[in-house]
Amino acid sequence: MSIPMAESTSINQSSSAPEHEPPPAQSAAPIQEPPIAQQPVQGERQIAVDTDSSYSEDDLSTYTASLTSSVLNYPTENGRRYHAFRPGTYLFPNDEPEQDRMDLQHEMYLRACDGKLHLAPLAATKGKRFLDLGTGTGIWCVEMGDCYPDAEIIGNDFSPVQPTMVPKNVKFEVDDVESQWAHQKKFDYIHSRFMAGSIADWPKLVERCYENLNPGGIIELQDGDFVTYSEDGTTKGTWLEKWNVDFANAAKQGGRTVQPGPQLEEWVRAAGFEDVHHEKIRLPLGMWPKDKKLKEVGAFNLVQLKEGLEGFSLALFTRVLGWSPEEVQVLLTKVRKDLSDSHVHAQNDMHIVWGRKPLST
Ligand SMILES: C[S@@+](CC[C@H](N)C(=O)[O-])C[C@H]1O[C@@H](n2cnc3c(N)ncnc32)[C@H](O)[C@@H]1O
Repeated sequence: MSIPMAESTSINQSSSAPEHEPPPAQSAAPIQEPPIAQQPVQGERQIAVDTDSSYSEDDLSTYTASLTSSVLNYPTENGRRYHAFRPGTYLFPNDEPEQDRMDLQHEMYLRACDGKLHLAPLAATKGKRFLDLGTGTGIWCVEMGDCYPDAEIIGNDFSPVQPTMVPKNVKFEVDDVESQWAHQKKFDYIHSRFMAGSIADWPKLVERCYENLNPGGIIELQDGDFVTYSEDGTTKGTWLEKWNVDFANAAKQGGRTVQPGPQLEEWVRAAGFEDVHHEKIRLPLGMWPKDKKLKEVGAFNLVQLKEGLEGFSLALFTRVLGWSPEEVQVLLTKVRKDLSDSHVHAQNDMHIVWGRKPLST
């Protein structure tokens, strides 16, 4: 189920509760009037009946969330703010510092991919429907909206943190991509990016994408590994390495992988996609590469990781590993020092996989 956001005025991030006009005073109904149930409300159309009236507990809870605006009652913990819809499912924050980091990561991604928002070929986009899973700040959708003004672009997320001033072909929804999808119409292109650490069941998610694509539709998954390494051994024995091991273990205990990249292709093929492509891009952490482009990518990657470390680690290390917030901060200070050391040649990989749903299925 999803709650539409961009077109909705009922959930406004700057006001706590929607204001309504008081109802007009009612006059007593004349005696001869038909029973209220048969009487259409003046000036209003009758409510259309949803003939597909089966719904699950998930659907009900989504509607409740929408009605109470509880999607905006963001909980805070150890100084960071987290999502309110299906709380506790995703362990990274949704606050301003994390939003800034996501936008920085977007810039890093663009530099690594020579400015391309997608690698899959998208031809004849007029009237086509694109979906971005876990859109974050919605920056990818907004830029896609500008690039493809004749396509309809929908981004969804647990958190309604996306801007409202967006191209008119872009809209955002609050949704859990791991629950039943309720879109009436299928899509022509489904995209997700940087969902490492987010998804509990990747194969199921990829199957869901397959079901929700039109024949010939394209899936494109772009994911960066949280696991860092060095080719010259300079990360060996560092605090960065220790953080990485603890972080990956905590995520695993919490039922998430922080390195989905190497398996994306397998999941895409298993779901039935054909014409599958896989590109691996190396992302340096820091300005240590000689190459100008890699140096720039490395600078962006380093800043976004240093900014993100606290948000990635606090909930995972305290909730899953039982560390105190202070213990987490002490480790992170040491990790930041390693990251700033030009002798540590750390990098991580980004995997971009796309495939096409067969025309006849
Ligand atoms: C690391 S951010 C990536 C944001 C964006 N895709 C990008 O590339 O900038 C992951 C996002 O996925 C969202 N998310 C995680 N699990 C989700 C789920 N099950 N359903 C919807 N959104 C989810 C989070 O709220 C967060 O905004």
